[in-house]
Amino acid sequence: MNIIRAKNYQDMSRKAANIISAQIIMKPDCVLGLATGSSPIGIYAQLVDWYKKGDLDFSRVSTVNLDEYRGLSHSDPQSYYHFMHENLFRLVNIREDATHVPDGTNLDAASACAAHEEVIHFLGGIDLQLLGLGNNGHIGFNEPGEAFEKETHCVNLTESTIQANSRFFASIADVPTQAYTMGIRSIMMAKKILVIVSGETKADMVANAFFGPVTPQVPASILQMHPNVTVVADEAALSKVPADI
Ligand code: GLP
Repeated sequence: MNIIRAKNYQDMSRKAANIISAQIIMKPDCVLGLATGSSPIGIYAQLVDWYKKGDLDFSRVSTVNLDEYRGLSHSDPQSYYHFMHENLFRLVNIREDATHVPDGTNLDAASACAAHEEVIHFLGGIDLQLLGLGNNGHIGFNEPGEAFEKETHCVNLTESTIQANSRFFASIADVPTQAYTMGIRSIMMAKKILVIVSGETKADMVANAFFGPVTPQVPASILQMHPNVTVVADEAALSKVPADI
């Protein structure tokens, strides 16, 4: 696991965007695994900026997203479909049919999840998977549990995740209680993984997930077993790990 120290959120975003941009330049028809949440917003803004300056070309890039709330329409501002279009897809020259967010409008969980998994296989797997870190150690929406879940599946969100994500909704009652998410196996199959973490509230989790035991109780801890993981974290997020790391 390669850990890159960033000064702050902006620096983290720029460093992580550099890694994604290098991936696109090295392999113009790459498959990017993308994430939502507040952590990647700065990365997407940076990529859009470089695209506008003519430094990046998304015309042959394909994307798959990690997760989506079950039951939100595409036009719902809180759907991850909407988030991705607002923050990236409509701002760069990516083909609409090359972007794949799990279909939260399909209430048949088995069919929605199988379709997403099929897309990943059809594309030949993910070259670079971007991940944020949930407050409770979740990645995608893989919540702490008894076992590492395998492929794309439907999850019941934990109280702590519903609470954390309620900041984006009018009230906590509006937060969906279920989501579709790529599983740990789908994530671990990615050739490269890029994790971004910012802020002091994540500092304990950074120490647990990347320096503690590998356990399904801390889903992100499995990343210690992946052969090609880069973590870009800011000083605040790294405040609970030894300074020489
Ligand atoms: C959500 C998403 C995750 C994301 C996490 C952290 O629950 N499903 O993919 O990594 O939140 O979000 P943030 O970056 O806003 O802290």
